[in-house]
Amino acid sequence: MFELKHRDGLARIGILETAHGKIETPTLLPVINPNQITVSPAEMKEKVGIQALITNSYIIRKHDNLRELALEKGLHELVGFNGPIMTDSGTFQSHMYGEVELEPLEIIEFQKAIGSDIGTVLDIFSEPEDKREKVERDLKTTIERTQLSADNKGNMMLAGPIQGGRFPDLREYAAQEMSKMDCDIFPIGGVVPMMEKQMYFTLVDAVLSAKKHLNPSVPVHLFGCGHPMLFSMAALMGCDMVDSAAYAKFARDGRMMFSDGTRFLKDIKELPCHCPICSTHTADELRDSPDQEKLLAEHNLYVSFTELKIVKQAIHEGRIWELTETRARAHPNLLDGLKCFRKHTELLEKTEPLSRDLAYLYTSPESYYRPIVSRLKNRILERYEQPVSNFQVLFPEATKPYYRSYGEQISKMKDKNTLNYWIDSFFCPIPVELDEMYPISQSVISERLEPGIEQEKMRVLKEFMDAGLISPEIKHWHGKETIESIPQDKADNSEINIARVKAVADIQFGKGAGKALLDGEIELVLSAKTDRIRNVRVNNQHVLSMRAGDGLFTLKIAGAQILQQTFPSPKMRVIVNPDSAEFNRKGKSVFSAFVLDADPDIVPGDEVLIVDEKDDLCAVGRTIMTRNEMLAFNNGTAVKVREGQNHG
Ligand code: GUN
Ligand code: ZN
Repeated sequence: MFELKHRDGLARIGILETAHGKIETPTLLPVINPNQITVSPAEMKEKVGIQALITNSYIIRKHDNLRELALEKGLHELVGFNGPIMTDSGTFQSHMYGEVELEPLEIIEFQKAIGSDIGTVLDIFSEPEDKREKVERDLKTTIERTQLSADNKGNMMLAGPIQGGRFPDLREYAAQEMSKMDCDIFPIGGVVPMMEKQMYFTLVDAVLSAKKHLNPSVPVHLFGCGHPMLFSMAALMGCDMVDSAAYAKFARDGRMMFSDGTRFLKDIKELPCHCPICSTHTADELRDSPDQEKLLAEHNLYVSFTELKIVKQAIHEGRIWELTETRARAHPNLLDGLKCFRKHTELLEKTEPLSRDLAYLYTSPESYYRPIVSRLKNRILERYEQPVSNFQVLFPEATKPYYRSYGEQISKMKDKNTLNYWIDSFFCPIPVELDEMYPISQSVISERLEPGIEQEKMRVLKEFMDAGLISPEIKHWHGKETIESIPQDKADNSEINIARVKAVADIQFGKGAGKALLDGEIELVLSAKTDRIRNVRVNNQHVLSMRAGDGLFTLKIAGAQILQQTFPSPKMRVIVNPDSAEFNRKGKSVFSAFVLDADPDIVPGDEVLIVDEKDDLCAVGRTIMTRNEMLAFNNGTAVKVREGQNHG
């Protein structure tokens, strides 16, 4: 059982329940080789707080002493750890060292017999170099074996690896087929050589292709991803667990891991680390220590678990993109991995939150390709309804919010004629009335953009022209000269704040929402302190509140009723069963288990109407999950209800 607690796009913090306790993800499962324990599980728990570990059932089974002990006393006693233990199946060993073939059910039965919490299917390992025909054939076998293993898993949780080699479409196919099976974890397999050879573009392509079709309520494990420099990217791809023997293997070779790469101890003059090992030893002392291997293994674990905390904090803050873009600087190939994300923008947009608490930070040209940017552009293209005008003006980027920067100039032009005002912003051309909406005002962007971004902005401007939103005759702002060029006609006495409400409502809820919500006597309540919109009242009813933080709306029941009339089901709806409806009417949140269906376009953070099967409005609230997630998860909050609709 897996529960979603927090998220930033595909990156998530979750709770996985096992027979030996709960695991908070994302986490790292250190690999324990029962034949060769460098740091004991008890020590790892005490020092870095490991929550779970992974060991190899094939190795245990192969060695008489280990096998007997495991069968007699159990796996947990054998390795000396009473928390969750995952076992691998020997796929990797038989693949690497060509050891004797094993029957897939034999190893499942053995994992059950020794009391593994999470056993793994004996999948077939595909190499990135493998030809398509071979990968297809092996994938077919893996799928058959997974079916067989799932039918016989008993009380053990089962990990069903996703293979497919370097072929994104086969990864997609594998994910589709494997999602039909009763697996509790989906590890992404066949990726160790990709990481060893730093083929990060191929790795990201493989993982995101699989993510596209994997059941979202099942945690994803990235096999062999043990280097801390990869953890943030793994989380951003939606990997909930990783495992690593690297901490021990690297220590054996005298190598130390850091979040920006690996260094040989022999080359280190200054230890760039303050872990308990590095703060009590100099590099020379480590070099001379008889315990060097163990000390380096401990350092590697400290660095890894610190990086995990950094990743988790970034997920809480909504800064996983910024962190990943920063970490991608560790190696040019890792940067190429980051560049693969833009190939999967459609997938990433589905889980991209509507807004975040913290500002969008530009770290590098790659920041331009985040899904929040493409969504903003697409929504303006699809949803923005431009007021009728005689001219258009395009202002250059300026201090945000834009209306505060250009208000004086705009009012001079409004005295003369009716115009539309656009800003040539970093994100895309922005109608001035959207200027306070996330992420436009809530962004910090380099003032000296790379030529590639400037070029891309030109292309997007052309796209806006082709779509008819921006006229080729648009006046590029040249100060007084531009004002003088506008012929004196009727003054434009439209109100910016009304335009703002209409435009934001259309972008946030869909084309036509603004017009419907504002149909009547409008009263805007402004903040006395900031003069910004707080509440929108129409015909004496409070329909919307504008949030100061992200400039987006929270929906009141009266507003929800209007949108319900405007948009046919399932748009903006989360449809719940009768048991839930009763609770939601009283203001209680919606649990995913009670969701019957929902609007497929819902994104996390959206305002939604909670309705029963008859489309009767029960409540309004803010989503945590997408439709796919609401339907897949059996527990956890799907929508935080803000206001219930108690019929008399
Ligand atoms: N360990 C590293 N890669 C793999 C894989 O693809 N399958 C299994 N079962 N274990 C692995
Ligand atoms: Zn250290």
